[in-house]
Amino acid sequence: MKVLVVGGGGREHALIRKIKESKRVDSVACCPGNGGISYDADCYNVSATDIDGVIKLAKEIKADFVVVAPDDPLVAGMVDALNAEGFATFGPRADAAIIEGSKVFSKNLMLKYNIPTAEYKVFDRAEDVIEYLKEKNEFPAVIKADGLALGKGVIIPETLDEAIAGVKEIMEDKIFGASGNNVVVEEFLTGPEVSVLAFTDGKCVKPMVSSMDHKRALDGDKGLNTGGMGTVSPNPYYTEEIAKECMDKIFIPTINAMNAEGRTFKGCLYFGLMLTAKGPKVIEYNCRFGDPETQVVLPRLKTDIMDIFDAINNETLSELDIEWSDEACACVIMASGGYPKSYPKGIEITGLTDGQLQGVTVYHAGTAVKDGKLVTSGGRVLGVTALGDTLENALVKSYSAVDKINFENAHYRKDIGQRALKALNNVKNV
Ligand code: AMP
Ligand code: GLY
Repeated sequence: MKVLVVGGGGREHALIRKIKESKRVDSVACCPGNGGISYDADCYNVSATDIDGVIKLAKEIKADFVVVAPDDPLVAGMVDALNAEGFATFGPRADAAIIEGSKVFSKNLMLKYNIPTAEYKVFDRAEDVIEYLKEKNEFPAVIKADGLALGKGVIIPETLDEAIAGVKEIMEDKIFGASGNNVVVEEFLTGPEVSVLAFTDGKCVKPMVSSMDHKRALDGDKGLNTGGMGTVSPNPYYTEEIAKECMDKIFIPTINAMNAEGRTFKGCLYFGLMLTAKGPKVIEYNCRFGDPETQVVLPRLKTDIMDIFDAINNETLSELDIEWSDEACACVIMASGGYPKSYPKGIEITGLTDGQLQGVTVYHAGTAVKDGKLVTSGGRVLGVTALGDTLENALVKSYSAVDKINFENAHYRKDIGQRALKALNNVKNV
């Protein structure tokens, strides 16, 4: 088989590495891919959001299967368009991808089907939001743009002034375009966060191993929100008991709710959960694999991923036994100096041979090959990832590899996994 993966970040690199392990796969192509991915797949310069371009490419290279990884093309209907041309695919159709594409949709779905989430109100006028926030006078407040916003559509203002400024940016200046026509204001929740990616064929749901993201730019969860500065798997807060509760109260009800709405979801559904004092609640749904969660989840997958994709398409997922390794996995993101604000590109990266380093897997998020040299080309550059018999060992391996990789002003968090280690030690002490 020839598999085409649409996208070009660390998540896509992790998917490609796993797809290449399949006995049934001869070659993998990627569009647009990146410098590091080009060591593993044939990369084609077609944008991940160019539906016509991707269809043309899939025909040209005679792809047998197309995996659509990012949110924008899924929400825009790339899978529907590929299916109409006869291609087998992985990823939800647009009518199901709306679970990520519209927060108003997903919040209303959870309310209608009694799926635990933060209380909320929807607004379509900035004045009304500001009036409501003034009256309520409870901070921090949580304000979310309805549509896709490159992962930056959530603001958590500490004061009314900050809230007013944020609402104006989203609803009046339209910094996220039409995504800001509506906003959701919701209750501020507290508790440890867990990411659970789950395979579903619309009939059954098979959660993958859990993970923990580190969204803030700086150590100690300080600084600006980013796309994710590192991940670990498993997430120690996600005990078997909590997993069962999530299955009964969140995962199965969500699949049933989407079916009841005539929007059967097939693919990877991402549950962003918060474990509150009143039980687990949904913070967000994503219609795709998370980034950088995928980088620590897929290395633990033992089952042939193409068998899983086929079972989803054939609606036989319940018959497939999906196996996971007991090892822990850690991913440390090396980012460009300045990220998530502006940063330079084209800086040479040293310490890697053909994009890799022995003992770890380096997933490339923002790299390019220029004049035969590997250079930076994005905010998040590399995801340095290791498996270990314990989380501690996985972290030691990742961080010792990070020490050997260099580019000017490289920035990474030194405390990835520390919160998880603390939680593990507390559990041991009980
Ligand atoms: P998102 O972009 O939806 O992943 O949200 C970004 C981050 O905002 C989440 O990972 C949470 O840390 C935080 N967040 C979102 N919704 C809430 C909420 N209702 N209460 C507290 N924090 C939240
Ligand atoms: N890591 C969060 C996301 O993929 O949206």
